[in-house]
Amino acid sequence: MTAPTSAAPVPERTPVAVVGGGPAGLLLSHLLHTSGIEHVVLEARTREEIENTHRAGILEASSVQVLVDHGLDRVLREGDRHDGIVLRFDGADHRVDLTGLTGRSVWLYPQTAVFTDLATRRAADGGDVRWGATVTRVLDADGDRPGVLWTDAEGTGHELRCDVLVGADGSRSTLRHTLPEAQRRTYAHEYPYAWFGVIVEAPRSAPELVYTTSEHGFALISQRTDTHQRMYFQCDPDEDPEGWSEDRIWAELQRRVAGPDGFRLVEGPVRERSVLRFRSSVVEPVRHGRMLLAGDAAHTVPPTGAKGLNLALADVVVLHDVLETWFATRDDAVLDAYGHRVAERVWRAQHFSAWMSTMLHSHPGETGFAARRRLAELRTLVASEAGRRFLAEGYTGWGPVLGTGPGAMSAAMPGGEGR
Ligand code: DHB
Repeated sequence: MTAPTSAAPVPERTPVAVVGGGPAGLLLSHLLHTSGIEHVVLEARTREEIENTHRAGILEASSVQVLVDHGLDRVLREGDRHDGIVLRFDGADHRVDLTGLTGRSVWLYPQTAVFTDLATRRAADGGDVRWGATVTRVLDADGDRPGVLWTDAEGTGHELRCDVLVGADGSRSTLRHTLPEAQRRTYAHEYPYAWFGVIVEAPRSAPELVYTTSEHGFALISQRTDTHQRMYFQCDPDEDPEGWSEDRIWAELQRRVAGPDGFRLVEGPVRERSVLRFRSSVVEPVRHGRMLLAGDAAHTVPPTGAKGLNLALADVVVLHDVLETWFATRDDAVLDAYGHRVAERVWRAQHFSAWMSTMLHSHPGETGFAARRRLAELRTLVASEAGRRFLAEGYTGWGPVLGTGPGAMSAAMPGGEGR
């Protein structure tokens, strides 16, 4: 961390400083605006950089509800509602009727579209979102006037002081590091595989998402538009995406979905490619004094099941409620309760993402026993209505945002020492 280049900046003041202008930071900004709570958002990247980063595409029903309830309804017009997903194994399709089993659907609506909707709306409402603003130091996080030193795109240093500081600055969060070492616990799990993600120019290969596993490994056939599709296949975490020809990518995808039913993907030029890493992590506590963390800054999930954005939006709904109450009462117990209120959903999503990942991916060096056990798990799951419902409940997100009431998950869980 470097000090700003200019002489002592004149501190600026705002009630809430939000570090991070991704979907979590911008949704919080939009909600604070609707409550009349002044704030500033600092985001290190430019708007264009964020808009050009591909991220997952599934929104749970409650995420859609939050957006629509707050006037962001493009998702209903331009998103695709999905009432089911397909699990494909033994070379055959097994549909899980999400809506029939839970009464809920999900929407295929990429994270970049959510970001664009929020950024456009904040700009239209005159929101103070500063792009290219890099936080270089956190000041007095546990005092009653916390703040940050930040540098603008021209390299000029500034100081921003606030009543409450929010870290919505993603998985490489700067603010997370202000949690004192002695209190910070990180619960993490690494996976021995990653996803090779592509955007291809081709029509849809299937009407619904296909999560497939075979002796060649996992693949996910997702969609985007009539002309472009999103697909992923399991790969080594160190895979170099540039080392693959288009022919090799298609051959790999085709052999993972192949089966006696003759299913084949519609091929076309590969327009984009990248390797997505797999990691599960939760940091606790999510509060230090007047500094609170939300979204990927506090927890990450592997991509299977697309929980990351949904979890971030759910955090923000709770955090907005916390901040509204805190500004009305100045009662710090409200800030204290935030972590407990979000923990229930965070850990359910951790379990769900890890479970789906483990069930659908082949471990490098997996024994014959382990591979057959995974298949038996999938067969048991789809053969049972209770099993399909369990999957559908987790996939669609357990209904309305959890953790807004009392009785949140206890902090005193076994293994509380973390790792
Ligand atoms: C997408 C990504 C996911 O991780 C997932 O589970 C479903 C869809 C997507 O990018 O379309």
